[in-house]
Amino acid sequence: MKKGKFITIDGVEGAGKSTQIDFICEYLKAKGIQVVLTREPGGTKVGEKIRELLLSNSTGDMHADTELMLMFAARNEHIQNKIMPALEQGDWVLSDRFTDSSYAYQGGGRGLDINRISQLESWVMQDFTPDMTLLLDVPVEIGMSRVESRGKKDRIEMEKMDFFDRVRQAYIARSKEFPDRIKLIDSSKTIEHTTEQIATVLDTL
Ligand SMILES: Nc1ncnc2c1ncn2[C@@H]1O[C@H](COP(=O)(O)OP(=O)(O)OP(=O)(O)O)[C@@H](O)[C@H]1O
Ligand SMILES: [Mg+2]
Repeated sequence: MKKGKFITIDGVEGAGKSTQIDFICEYLKAKGIQVVLTREPGGTKVGEKIRELLLSNSTGDMHADTELMLMFAARNEHIQNKIMPALEQGDWVLSDRFTDSSYAYQGGGRGLDINRISQLESWVMQDFTPDMTLLLDVPVEIGMSRVESRGKKDRIEMEKMDFFDRVRQAYIARSKEFPDRIKLIDSSKTIEHTTEQIATVLDTL
């Protein structure tokens, strides 16, 4: 039986996910909540190995379906061996990216059929879903300019601007499809502006 809450944070590169995750963690801890921080792809030993395969430039080209299935393989490991056990113990779990990323990157970005993604989703997730998803929305050019100084790009970050534009649009479409779960946060302004909006929606949980 699930007792804790499951929160995911999603959005394009440079939206501010990793920046805001630290705030969210502190905010929840201050309320006396135990928080487990994790990320996708990854979060488990097997998942981190799959992450390496997915993101390393040395992997080279990969069929889009293979990429999708590897994402869900890592996700299965994550749910079964990390997320569910923590939630059952009463901890809250906060994940940097989750299934909405698959719809945005492999669906919107790579153009895979949404029905194929949802088949894998029901296979791996059954009726498991985040209690809340914070979708940090930022124009792609702003997000990219924030991460540029980070140096070497990974295999997926090597994609062109129009790829990330499609990713962003797919995220926005998901937030319209699931307005109760996915909270669209304007992350184009200051870090503090984003943080304030996040605190407001977290208070509704
Ligand atoms: N609202 C903001 N305004 C200006 N800079 C920001 C804002 N949010 C984050 N940043 C800065 O932008 C950079 C990228 O942010 P961050 O790493 O949190 O993005 P991310 O969404 O985790 O990206 P990725 O998907 O690549 O992991 C960091 O240097 C961070 O300090
Ligand atoms: Mg990050």
